[in-house]
Parts: sequence; C-alpha cells; structure tokens
Amino acid sequence: MTADMNDPEGAAPGPGCPYHRPMPPKPASRPADVSFLSWVRHFRRDILSAQPERLYRAWMAEFRTPFFRSFLCNDPDLVDLVLTLRPEDFPKSARLFEGLAPLLGHSIFITNGPEWQRQRRIVDPAFESGRLREIFPAMWDAACAIVAHLRPHATGQPVDIEPHTSHVALDVIFRTLFSLPVEDGTATAVFTAFREHQKSRPLVNTGSLLPLPRWVPRWHARQTRETAAHIRALIRGLVEDHARMIAAGTAPDDLATRLMTTPDPEDGSLFTTEDMVDQVGIFFLAGHETSASALAWALYLMALYPDWQERLADEARTVIDPEKIYFSTVPKLKLARGVFRETMRLYPPVPMLLREAAKEERFRGRRVPKGSQVVISQWHLHRHERIWENPHGFDPTRWDTQEGRESSRKAYFPFSAGLRVCPGSAFAMTEGALILSMILRHYRVETVPGREPVPVAQLTVRGRDGIWLRLSPRDA
Ligand code: HEM
Repeated sequence: MTADMNDPEGAAPGPGCPYHRPMPPKPASRPADVSFLSWVRHFRRDILSAQPERLYRAWMAEFRTPFFRSFLCNDPDLVDLVLTLRPEDFPKSARLFEGLAPLLGHSIFITNGPEWQRQRRIVDPAFESGRLREIFPAMWDAACAIVAHLRPHATGQPVDIEPHTSHVALDVIFRTLFSLPVEDGTATAVFTAFREHQKSRPLVNTGSLLPLPRWVPRWHARQTRETAAHIRALIRGLVEDHARMIAAGTAPDDLATRLMTTPDPEDGSLFTTEDMVDQVGIFFLAGHETSASALAWALYLMALYPDWQERLADEARTVIDPEKIYFSTVPKLKLARGVFRETMRLYPPVPMLLREAAKEERFRGRRVPKGSQVVISQWHLHRHERIWENPHGFDPTRWDTQEGRESSRKAYFPFSAGLRVCPGSAFAMTEGALILSMILRHYRVETVPGREPVPVAQLTVRGRDGIWLRLSPRDA
C-alpha cells in the first residue's frame, strides 16, 4: 500500500489541510432494522442505499419477504460456485425478461440454455483480440471526436459529464458496429429513442427487478412498448442496410458484418435479421451504458485526486502520438488502465448480478429453496472489508501489490466471470483507457464544490443528480 491512501481510521488530515485526501463518494446505508414496506420504498428508490452497512462485512445475507427469498452471496467460494462451477444450476432470473423483453426480445443477455449457447458461439469470435485490433481505428476516431465535442464545454463552468460520456460510449459502439458516427441521422435517432425509452421506464432500474407479484400494476407499460418498438424499427433499418451491403460485397469490415457473416460452428446457421435486432439492442445497451458510467466516475475521481490526474495526463502526452495510431499503444497506458480498474472496483457499472436457484441448494449450511433469487453484488464484493485493504479508498497502485492481486482474484468481477462473462471486456478496457487518456491529455477536470455525486444504481451506477465537473483546456 502507498502512503497516500485515504484511510478513514487513521489520523487523517482534515479538509483545508494540503495533505487532506477526500474519500470517494459512497451512498449512505439504510438503518439496520426497517419494516418490509419501508425496505420496499428504499429499494425502489435505489438498490444501493437500500442495503444495510453490514453487507460490507457479511459473507452471506438472506432476505425473506412475503413473496420471495433472496440470498446475497459475498463468500468468494459461493460466487465461484454460482458463476463458474455450476452456472447451469443458477440461470439468469426469468424476472429479467419482464423489464427487457419489449426492447431486447431474445437477446444473448437474457436467454438461457441452448438458445444462449448458440448466440454465444456466434458472438464470441467477433470480440477476439485480433478483431479488436481491426476495429481500433474506429475507437480512435471516437476518442478524437469526444475531444472536439467537449471543447465548447471546457469553459470552467460546471458541466454534467454523464451525458457526454454516454455520447462518446455510444459513438464508439456505432462506429465499431456499423461504421457510423453517432452524429449520423439514424444513430442520432437511436440515441434519442434510447433516452425516451429510459424516461418511460428505466431499462433495468434495479428497483424494477424487485420481484413483486404479477398482480401489482406495472407503470408506463404501453409507452415502454411503443418506445421499444421504435428503437427496434430503427435498428432493423440499420441491419437491413448492412444485409444489402453484405449481399453486394460492399459491406465495411465492422462488427455488424462480422456478426452477420459468422456461422454457428455447430450447425452452420447465421443470425437472421430478427436475431440481429435482438443482439444489436443489447450491444448498444450493455456496451454504452456501462462504459459511459465507468468513464464518468473515472473523470470524477481524477478531479478528486489531481495528483493522479497529472500523472495520467503526462502518460497520455508521452505515449499517445496522434500522428501514428497503433493498437499496441493502449497497453502502454498503464496508469490509465490501473485507474480505470480502480474506478470499476469502487463504482462497478453493473452493481449486481441476478440469478435464480434452479433446484434446492445449501449455502453456508442454510437451505436455499428452488426458485430463490441469488444475488452477486459486485458493489459489496469490491468493497468487502474483510477482503480488501482500504476498501472504500481510491488506490490504483493496489493492483501492483501481491495483496491487491490476491483480493482481486477473490472479489473483483466488474465483467462477471465464468461462461457468462462479458464478451466485451477487452473492448471496454481498451476503450476506457484510451478515452480517459485522450480527455485528460486535452482537458483539466476539477470538482464543483457542493456538488459531490451520490452513487445510485440505475441501469448502471450513476450520479443521482449527475456527475458535475469543471473542464478547462490544457492546450490553450
Ligand atoms: C465497462 C464496460 C462494461 C462492463 C462493466 C460490462 C459488464 C458486464 C457484466 C457484469 C455482464 C454480465 C451480466 C450478467 O451476467 O447479468 C456483461 C454481459 C454482457 N456484456 Fe458487458 N460490460 C461492459 C462493456 C460491454 C461492451 C463494450 C459490450 C459489447 C460491445 C458488452 C456486451 C455484453 C454482452 C453481449 C453481455 C451478455 C453476455 C451473456 O450473457 O452471455 N459489454 N457485461
């Protein structure tokens, strides 16, 4: 551990002292004992602050309600069991379909069994490292575009950075998937439609996963269906354009072409147009909300720790040569990668994974009835007080220590693990380090006093009222 760790226990210098290290924002936990109704209210508002503080120390917690039983697993052996050793006995919860089916149909994110296996056999090759090298120039173009896009906002006035990180993350997806910049007409329409959809129903607002019985009315169901149908129609247009180009032999060598021309190695079948509409929806969603969340928190942390910000800016100036763009540059952005990893430890974009026990189980000596919810909370695992040193503090050097590596092996899963691990993890790490470095190479970021973000779990972990920063140009 380094000496600059922000240890809440020690005789830490207070605000105003030059040696003061602020702690990264952490949501307040709910009181230990609350009534079921009060818990539901907390839960629907925000799943993170609905949890008691003791979950940062517990190995397992059982929640019993009149409607369901839920087991939150922090024990690394249980996590291993659920995600890696016997994933088939803990499929994705069918409840996920409720909120997502209108938009995502039978997407890889929510399917199980043979249907999911086929989808994965076609999707995985598109994200191999060789492919990443080929699509890297498109990522680079998006990184240059965000630098230009931020220029009018770099006035020193407070700016909510989240819409801008969403913009660049969606730009990366459009450019790598369809060879289109986000400013293209259809891309803009999809971007706007996604925003509308989330307003009508936050897509996987984790609160909407609260398994209430079916007779409880679901709000905005019609509007949700309509916005979902609109997004699917726009995506169908993009896919059909691509199909025509593939047939004419003029398709660009992008991810969509790869996904549409890769046969299932087992039965030789290709994704149909409808299959593609389902999959593209999840690539837009899983690929842009997550990266946008991680980038926004990384920038906030850089504003909170200016010494790290300067180190990353120096590294970016030294390593990135805008005249010669190579994929091999990215591994050299070592500090940026360490900061991005540490950001996702403190603010895992996907804060919890939801599974269902397909049969009766025993967890740590307790009976887990068939159908129980099994929750793997990256939020708690990544900050577990019995696993990590300085669990709530910011320390990107931890990854270089034996102890940090050991904790990471047991309790660091920003991309999940096992068979259902995120296929876009290498893509996301490349994108994250590159874009963070490019922004800091060109802009200085500062916190806005009185506007400390409050982390909440929406679709991903976001700032409750945005993430506000002041930007100013470095190269002015
Ligand atoms: C920082 C960025 C990202 C993070 C933290 C992240 C995290 C995750 C996590 C935790 C899961 C597992 C969810 C579960 O099992 O319930 C997942 C699945 C998935 N991710 Fe990512 N992801 C990121 C970026 C991306 C990107 C860039 C893409 C594609 C372009 C992508 C595509 C997917 C897909 C298709 C799945 C479903 C896989 C399956 O169920 O087999 N993700 N991601």
